[in-house]
Amino acid sequence: MIRISICVGSACHLRGAHGVLNAFIALIDKYQVQGAVDLEGNFCQGYCTEGVVIKIGNEIITNVSQEKVYDLFAEKVLGRDGT
Ligand code: FES
Repeated sequence: MIRISICVGSACHLRGAHGVLNAFIALIDKYQVQGAVDLEGNFCQGYCTEGVVIKIGNEIITNVSQEKVYDLFAEKVLGRDGT
């Protein structure tokens, strides 16, 4: 099980956390990996100027935009690079 946490604190919210969350939901649905991914919202992670901040497992990833979600998903969840 891979845990993906998306910061939904106010700074990340303003930077598009909702779009990032929706992009992950769409990909989880598309690839039918509901049983392998635990997606959750998280409160402020303390990197507000570098939002959107997400956490995959124990790894904190900053400056995530909706456009970057597919590459992250492919690398971390599907286990391949974004090409
Ligand atoms: S609001 Fe997301 S890190 Fe602070």
